[in-house]
Amino acid sequence: MKPIPPSSLLLAFVALAVTAGFAATPAENWEKHCVGCHGADGKAQTRIGRKAGAKDLTDKANQAKLTDDDIIKIVKNGRKNAKGEEKMEAFGDRLNDAEIAALVQQVRGFAK
Ligand code: HEC
Repeated sequence: MKPIPPSSLLLAFVALAVTAGFAATPAENWEKHCVGCHGADGKAQTRIGRKAGAKDLTDKANQAKLTDDDIIKIVKNGRKNAKGEEKMEAFGDRLNDAEIAALVQQVRGFAK
């Protein structure tokens, strides 16, 4: 039997870690994926956030218009404007359902 190359052991470990659910916390995901546009405080007062026209997530009236399901869809599929230009990228390929559901709570937390 041939010895197992160390690189494939590492790959197996990574695959195991991912499937075992070493998922990032919502705060980590917010920091990693959302802060650039929406800001640490959710107010979207970042350069890109202002340019893209991201809304203030601390605005209760604005959030009241969104259901949890709306937010899930926005995070999964991203947002395009009327001209079909991408305003917010889609995260459905990078975040799993549990991570997205946790981010909904993170978003809700800004408007409390
Ligand atoms: C490239 C910048 C960008 C990134 C990164 C980004 N967003 Fe957005 N997001 C936007 C913009 C711009 C809008 C407003 C789009 C529109 O015109 O409806 C938006 C809208 C939203 C809305 C709806 C707000 C409302 O009042 O309609 C939610 C919720 C949201 N983003 C959550 C997130 C989460 C969670 C992440 C991270 C996983 C994220 N966004 C990452 C730019 C971004």
